[in-house]
Amino acid sequence: MKADFLTYQAQTTPHPLAMEVAKAEGSYIYNTEGKKFLDFVAGVSACSLGHQHPRVKTAIINQLDKYAHVMVYGEYAQSPAVQLTKLLAAHLPPSLQSTYLVNSGTEAIDGAIKLARRATGRTEIIAAVDAYHGNSYGALSLMSNEERTAPFKPMIGDVSFIKFNCDRYLERITEHTAGVVLETIQGGAGFIEPTNDFLSKVKQRCKDVGALLILDEIQPGMGRTGKLFGFEHYNVVPDILVTGKGLGGGMPIGAFTASRDTMALLSDNPKLGHITTFGGHPVIAAAALATLQEITETTLIADTLVKEQLIREQLVHPYITEIRGRGLMLAALTPSAAITSEVILACQDAGLILFWLLFEDRAIRITPPLTITTEEIIEGCAILLAALDQALEKHGSLT
Ligand SMILES: Cc1ncc(COP(=O)(O)O)c(C=O)c1O
Repeated sequence: MKADFLTYQAQTTPHPLAMEVAKAEGSYIYNTEGKKFLDFVAGVSACSLGHQHPRVKTAIINQLDKYAHVMVYGEYAQSPAVQLTKLLAAHLPPSLQSTYLVNSGTEAIDGAIKLARRATGRTEIIAAVDAYHGNSYGALSLMSNEERTAPFKPMIGDVSFIKFNCDRYLERITEHTAGVVLETIQGGAGFIEPTNDFLSKVKQRCKDVGALLILDEIQPGMGRTGKLFGFEHYNVVPDILVTGKGLGGGMPIGAFTASRDTMALLSDNPKLGHITTFGGHPVIAAAALATLQEITETTLIADTLVKEQLIREQLVHPYITEIRGRGLMLAALTPSAAITSEVILACQDAGLILFWLLFEDRAIRITPPLTITTEEIIEGCAILLAALDQALEKHGSLT
């Protein structure tokens, strides 16, 4: 299978991990040789309830028994999408009550950019240095990293950048700005939390100049950081909230949410201002609804903070210089990119799945399913500590 994978399936890097997957269940993925791997990555924060969660699986099967795709988004009332958007509204403030469902995070970001331009009649979009919002042209245009965007230029117009957590950039947000797009907690940049009330200052500035604040919660959202939505930690409510990844419980989804009045602008002048064939797909929406119900009806959200504590207590090692993030969105930093890569690959050999971050190459991503157990955390941390010991033995103390 590996040879065919490398030959026929388009690749994203010259060196994919290329694990040959046979099945996955709970917090484990099994390869075709029957070896089991503890999953500390959760499909890059997407499998919020682990693999094959019974509630999600049952919802998918039950929905498939009724109907799958019947019509493009927005024409027919289909119970899974209706219930999902209603339940999201029940957990959001009064200013965020209307949700548009799409197929991926990047599409949701593009929808949010369009909505901000349509709502304000302005064009400028401001994003943060080292942000990651996706790879369709709208979202990719919000990437400050020239090396990654240059071959694909031109990007969409009128995008400029500010530094995350840097107050002196606030005045770059002006009467020309349609929207400011920020990750609530920066992911690819290294799991960087907002400090010093940065997000509420941005929101205030947006309010003062008539721009919209768009918060990308595709990664921190859906309970991963100890609240259902990351913004709840930071005394701010966005004008447009973007979600994805963990919302689908392992199925492909994206969503953007705004006030009813704002969202209504996409259905008028021009009508069909944003359309999608598969957005709100009944099977995907049923999976997302089951995921959201499970996350909000159990202690999973509060448990993430207890699990974070356990991980922090376990991962004490001379080669861990810092652990960033919140809840189960954590990044352990080692002294160098080389050590990080060596450790991630050694852990994979030893049966623990870890991963990199996009722009912070010293970071080891730790984003397990919210359902991970205490025993599994201890098992995974032991594997990681053993790999760090091996690296320390090989390279010695670097201080
Ligand atoms: C913060 C953030 N925004 C947007 C995206 C893009 O989502 P998708 O890959 O579903 O298009 C990602 C994906 O990694 C992300 O982490």
